[in-house]
Amino acid sequence: MRYGEGLLEEIRRRTDLVQLVGRRVKLVRKGRVMWGCCPFHAEKSPSFKVENERRTYKCFGCGKGGDCFRWLTETEGMSFPEAVEKLAAEAGVELPRWSPEDEAREQKKKSLYDIVELAARFYEAQLMAPEGRPARDYLKGRGLDGAAARQFRLGYAPPSSGMAGGQALVAHLTGHNVTRDDMIAAGLARPAEEGRPMRDFFFNRVMFTITDSRGRPIAFGGRALEADAKPKYINTGETVLFSKGHNLYNFPTARAAAIKTGTIILAEGYMDVIALVRAGFSHAVAPLGTALTEDQLGLLWRTAPEPILAFDGDAAGLKAAHRAAHLALPHLKPGHSLRFAFLPPGEDPDSFLAANGSGAMQMLLEAAIPLSQLLWRAETEGKDFSTPERRAGLEQALGALVGQIGDTKVADYYRRGFDQMIFENFKRRSARPGQDGARSAFRPQPFRGRGAPLRPQPGTAEAVSPGVQSSALVRKGVAGARQAKETELGRLLAAEPQLALWEGETLAGLDVADPSLDRLRHELLNLAASGSSLEKVGVQTHFARKGMAELLARFAGAAADDAHASFQRAAFDLRQLVGGESGQSADARRLLERRKALSQNPHPGNQRPDDGRGNI
Ligand code: UTP
Ligand code: MN
Repeated sequence: MRYGEGLLEEIRRRTDLVQLVGRRVKLVRKGRVMWGCCPFHAEKSPSFKVENERRTYKCFGCGKGGDCFRWLTETEGMSFPEAVEKLAAEAGVELPRWSPEDEAREQKKKSLYDIVELAARFYEAQLMAPEGRPARDYLKGRGLDGAAARQFRLGYAPPSSGMAGGQALVAHLTGHNVTRDDMIAAGLARPAEEGRPMRDFFFNRVMFTITDSRGRPIAFGGRALEADAKPKYINTGETVLFSKGHNLYNFPTARAAAIKTGTIILAEGYMDVIALVRAGFSHAVAPLGTALTEDQLGLLWRTAPEPILAFDGDAAGLKAAHRAAHLALPHLKPGHSLRFAFLPPGEDPDSFLAANGSGAMQMLLEAAIPLSQLLWRAETEGKDFSTPERRAGLEQALGALVGQIGDTKVADYYRRGFDQMIFENFKRRSARPGQDGARSAFRPQPFRGRGAPLRPQPGTAEAVSPGVQSSALVRKGVAGARQAKETELGRLLAAEPQLALWEGETLAGLDVADPSLDRLRHELLNLAASGSSLEKVGVQTHFARKGMAELLARFAGAAADDAHASFQRAAFDLRQLVGGESGQSADARRLLERRKALSQNPHPGNQRPDDGRGNI
């Protein structure tokens, strides 16, 4: 690390953390400590404290905390050095002077930035010049107008057959006193070869300006105008300023939008990003001519806890998704994952938006599946697990995936989640034997998310039992079985309220008929959402205080040995009895959405208008 702890401490000491945090969060003094509503999760009563004396902030609800540097990296998406530079400047702390070599390198970089900026302007001017007509027509043909060209700094590199004979940019930069070495160092020109003078790097291409995280142009992508040209795109090679694996297209704009919306989208190409941004998805980025790298994943995670990666729905897209999933495993942390959205085969976000509009895109993004489900799908889809050996093989493969996860807590939840999936899938077989032939009955359920419905729809006779539909007798039997299952769930919740924390999604998604169980669940999920630990004694006190002690009493009973498994079994059985989630009550749906919003958007405070925060 470039900065010593002594220097960092000096900056911390001179930074007024209360004032810094106060720019985003309304704080109220209580003694020596300032309190406010946590900006990292939704809450109504303040559990977020800032202490100038200790130079730290901490939320007792969600556990987020840190110092002034962490505050900027978490709320502004800055890198650590960026945060240090900013706070040092604000606090009047001078950063150490570098060695003469560092200084020279930095000077060199500065002049290269200027050179790439000159080139970007040149390409932009060429696009608007009379000679830029073919490129303008090309862009128009793809639905992009002058405003889009200005917004994304699109340009045109003239053909080598033109007057400048393949040296249009070289000549332009020479006119600005740029040396030939610098043109080559910036990746804008190719050196002279035998019998061939130095020439421009890009010819006859539509130019996409690539910037660094501060918005300074550092490189270009160039697209051929002809449909069948090879290669379709060429990109600036590695330079002092640009490394394709360390940058993302549209990153500065997307970062700002991601911090507001709490999410970021990774698409595959430049044109996809432009189409997404123009359709209102400003939080879209793309890699730069390579498959996603770990560094790029790191950039994504710096802006949002669960970036959505959008891939083609075809085999290549699926393969790219699996690659990204494996790349992510070692780096997962609590609350810090990926989601995957799949486009219909043959479509990319650009073509999908053109054909279906932004509403459809929004739905597609909302249907993005979590990383854990993608992995499950990759291991099980289209496979047959009709023998114990095959099932053992599946367990082993899943275990190997879990072994890749660096964080022990996350790994633990993955292990439990996979165990659960195995349990549900193979239990399903015994619950409904021979339903459609022994073989397919062994097959795991298709993946949740997009695609065919998983279970028979609620209300259809098939949901109950195939073949004996609409018999009053059967319906009565189902009602009884349902009541029994709901009582069992209520007992489990009363005995082990923390189930509402760990199995909250399942609980909120259940279609519950018993009003008492519904109230119990409602109260517990609300407690969970407000950050309560749902510790049993605390919950009992809470219910007693709210005059709802009899609600707990109604479900009092012996505690189960294994509450989790029993709960999942009962929930599964209930779903089998009443059909899928689509039958859930509005109340449950609301709770589910709220929990989802909480887990996907840790910055809801940022979006709330100021007056909404004043209710401390
Ligand atoms: P795609 O082939 O999916 O292109 O490449 P696209 O973005 O849909 O392009 P259009 O719509 O045909 O114009 C996705 C990304 O891969 C890189 C580029 O960054 C591109 O945006 N790529 C692709 C290359 O670097 N070189 C190539 O030859 C092709
Ligand atoms: Mn495309």
